[in-house]
Amino acid sequence: MQVVIDGPAGAGKSTVARRLADRLDAFYLDTGAMYRACTLRALRMGVDLDDSKVLAEVVDGAKIELLPAGEAGQCRVHLDGEDVSAEIRTREVTTAIRHLANCPEVRQRLVAQQRALAERTPGHVVAEGRDLASVVFPDAAVKVYLDASVEERARRRRADHGDQTPLDELQREISERDLSDQSRAVGPLVRVPEATYIDCSDMTIDEVVEQLAALVEAAGE
Ligand code: DC
Repeated sequence: MQVVIDGPAGAGKSTVARRLADRLDAFYLDTGAMYRACTLRALRMGVDLDDSKVLAEVVDGAKIELLPAGEAGQCRVHLDGEDVSAEIRTREVTTAIRHLANCPEVRQRLVAQQRALAERTPGHVVAEGRDLASVVFPDAAVKVYLDASVEERARRRRADHGDQTPLDELQREISERDLSDQSRAVGPLVRVPEATYIDCSDMTIDEVVEQLAALVEAAGE
């Protein structure tokens, strides 16, 4: 069974997807980590981030591995054999991502890799990203759009990452990323009509995970 969770940055997709995957003994597919790893590779190579042909080569040459790492379900991300789990979350990578996320040649390649990963997985897959229900896995058994207010997403980012950036600046950054995610020509963040919409602004992680588990159970019947 494929369970896909789309939604804007900071809504809590990773946390709930990881928890759900743990519970279902499923493979957790963090598609954002793949865009992040390729962005890191491009930055390290010092290539022109506006050259789509070169970016396609960066992706073609990248070896990205998403490895489950023990009990807590925290997956590790390896790029060309190196553990880059922390480095792909830096501000530098986050601000540069849009160059790759907006590039059709990059998206086409990463979508193919995401489908191949899911096909190779013998059990369930819990995947999270932006274009999963609309583009990558349109036949997924469970589709969820996880949302939260910009204010709440900024607060969570501050609490989770110990980010000392002022709240209003964080909110502005998140709003900019929302706009960039929603307005790209290929693979934008969209809420497909059949997805279950969950606004988790006032929900706990446990409550969201319970709701997701109920959807999975209903889909399995
Ligand atoms: O989920 P995240 O914040 O780690 O994702 C990082 C960026 O990658 C996000 O700004 C948009 C992009 N992304 C994407 O374009 N498509 C996906 N399926 C997942 C992420």
